[in-house]
Amino acid sequence: MAQINFKPDDVIHDVEDGTPLIECCEEVDVSLSFGCTEGTCGVCELTVLEGMNNVSRLTEEERDYLLEEDLEAGMRLGCQLKIRKGEVVLTWKGNRAK
Ligand code: FES
Repeated sequence: MAQINFKPDDVIHDVEDGTPLIECCEEVDVSLSFGCTEGTCGVCELTVLEGMNNVSRLTEEERDYLLEEDLEAGMRLGCQLKIRKGEVVLTWKGNRAK
């Protein structure tokens, strides 16, 4: 079992190892939004605060979309992310207004 801490919403949720984040977000009421779900729009941009080793590796879409400094800051595209194991702490900017 893995555990996701959705920091901005103060929600902690247990998931099976290897679950795509987008599926986890269907199960809980969190404010992280998704758009294209294919790694091209950036709506799902988030930052992994803790547990970068517990999430899936960067996809080609993330490498294309995110800047080098974004990657260094722990930014990822939520629609591309799978939660592999352990604890993962996520945060994101409120982008509901976009
Ligand atoms: S939903 Fe568009 S990049 Fe993730």
